[in-house]
Amino acid sequence: MKTLNFAVLPGDGIGPEVMDVALDILKVVGDKFGFQLKYRHADIGGIAIDRHGVAFPELTHQICAESEAILFGSVGGPKWENLPPKEQPERAALLPIRKAFSLYANVRPGLLYSELTDASPLKQQRIPNGIDIVCIRELTGGIYFGQPKTTTTLDNGEELAIDTMVYKTSEIERIAQVAIDTARARGGRVCSVDKANVLETSVLWRKVVTAYFQKHAPEIELSHMYVDNAAMQLARDPNQFDVLFTENMFGDILSDEMGVICGSLGMLASASLGAQKNQLGLPFGLYEPSGGTAPDIAGQGIANPCAQILSGAMMLRYSFGEFEAAAAIEAAVKQAVTSGTRTGDIAFGLAAVSTVEMGAAILANL
Ligand code: IPM
Ligand code: MN
Repeated sequence: MKTLNFAVLPGDGIGPEVMDVALDILKVVGDKFGFQLKYRHADIGGIAIDRHGVAFPELTHQICAESEAILFGSVGGPKWENLPPKEQPERAALLPIRKAFSLYANVRPGLLYSELTDASPLKQQRIPNGIDIVCIRELTGGIYFGQPKTTTTLDNGEELAIDTMVYKTSEIERIAQVAIDTARARGGRVCSVDKANVLETSVLWRKVVTAYFQKHAPEIELSHMYVDNAAMQLARDPNQFDVLFTENMFGDILSDEMGVICGSLGMLASASLGAQKNQLGLPFGLYEPSGGTAPDIAGQGIANPCAQILSGAMMLRYSFGEFEAAAAIEAAVKQAVTSGTRTGDIAFGLAAVSTVEMGAAILANL
């Protein structure tokens, strides 16, 4: 039987609770579609700081390196907020793990079922059919990683901080290819977002993207938009986009905006695909819910497990080529939610179910 070998990094807050439910569902789906799971747990984030003194321990790195994919929970929380920013779980775990495995392509679907439009601040009239877009964000370049990145003290005692935004052609081309692949599997339209009226990196971005699409995907409808306008358009009429494609920091901001217009972060999955292929010849990737650790409800058994479950589905699709199993999970989640089984974040007056009950309702649809 085909064996799916992946690392499980539940992390902090609600991470472990929703991860358990996601693993149960993956197991059942495996029985149904003919694969078995072989996963190893490892510590990441705050729990890793507590147990090993660092947010991304060497052992965790090794377990990930020996796997074909990483199923990730979330990291961070109030307990570690007083550490210096560079040592806090988010920065000291997420950024290094992205860099360590060259996870350059962040795929964030912005999906809101039409039955859940009330969850969105945009309400019914702007999005009568819900929302269905996807953000492709470059994840290992730009201002997050560019050098120099320093804080120094000037002669007059003032402090001076510098971040550097850097992109080169090859980095832009490889993420352009991901945008193309994504658009081909969807509506065939890509809107590339930049700030080419101000930034050199954006001028290059626009030039490289235009040439790359002309050469490799002339059938894809490519448009360009400045990031300030994109932020506005996303709030005005999100479905004008099909694939929203952008660099690291713009993608960070726009994908959070996408999160809020899609109602609950508890529903949003993501994939971060690597430059390396795994043993199946598919992209090594890290799969994580977009919602974070939700420390306010952690440990209460009421968190929405859907984003973690849907991240598991993305893992099946991208890193293991299990397309039918992935689609089955997505359909089961949709059916459970739209037929009224909902955790507190998406309940809107209906009785809210627990994390485990939500998982059971999804399992029943498989
Ligand atoms: C995200 C997060 C991270 C980012 C932080 C926690 C480093 O906001 O995954 O979007 O900025 O990329
Ligand atoms: Mn973010």
